[in-house]
Amino acid sequence: MNHSVPSAGVAAMRRWIADDTPLKRALTARRWMVRAYFEARYVVADPWHLATSAYERERARATLDALGGRRYAEAIDVGCGEGIFTSQLLGPCDRIVAVDFSSLAIRRAGRRFAGNPRVEVRHHDIRSGPLDRSFDLVVCAELLYYMSRAEFEAVGARLVGLVAPMGDLCLVHGTSGHDATLAAGGTAPPGSMSAGAIHDWFGRIRRLTVVRDVVRPRYRITLLRRTEAPGG
Ligand SMILES: C[S@@+](CC[C@H](N)C(=O)[O-])C[C@H]1O[C@@H](n2cnc3c(N)ncnc32)[C@H](O)[C@@H]1O
Repeated sequence: MNHSVPSAGVAAMRRWIADDTPLKRALTARRWMVRAYFEARYVVADPWHLATSAYERERARATLDALGGRRYAEAIDVGCGEGIFTSQLLGPCDRIVAVDFSSLAIRRAGRRFAGNPRVEVRHHDIRSGPLDRSFDLVVCAELLYYMSRAEFEAVGARLVGLVAPMGDLCLVHGTSGHDATLAAGGTAPPGSMSAGAIHDWFGRIRRLTVVRDVVRPRYRITLLRRTEAPGG
């Protein structure tokens, strides 16, 4: 019996889950549904093909380049998924806290880093509460446009609060789908925000300075530094 060929029904469901349509974005605008959406996507391993897609590998390399060769003692990868990019972050970072709200993803990340004292894997919803410390580097890639505007602003403030003085915040978001809709005069589906709106919002935070802003046809990477003096 061949277990590797899914039935037509399972294959159709996988295609529906993997296909990113406006209808699904509208549905996932609800707080609990966005989590169910990600859980469903992680029914298959590496749903965004981070390990195999040439585009994703190039985006990961560009993200590491954007860090500009700086070394970080303590980093956090918010929305780490299965930890595929987190493992590349171990290059410039001594220790990493990897957080995600998907149980399936965090289980795989836990297996990936089992026995590695440099990575702490945590099941955590960044919308639901603060983490108890600050970091030299906060990475948030491909996550913030799955939120409503109100959620985004609360989480954005939380992310800024995680950055230690003189620490960096690295944002990475795909531009193609969301920004093209907005550029064409359309409105973003409920619960989704464009990479441009997200990155520009952080650029307006007084205590952050934009160090690098890499705009490519399909993604944007922005590195911001908390330049304000401690206590300021
Ligand atoms: C599109 S994937 C990106 C994964 C990885 N950051 C990357 O860019 O390769 C988005 C990830 O963010 C996680 N995520 C979304 N909303 C989250 C939240 N509120 N708290 C924690 N993780 C979240 C999802 O479970 C998923 O693993």
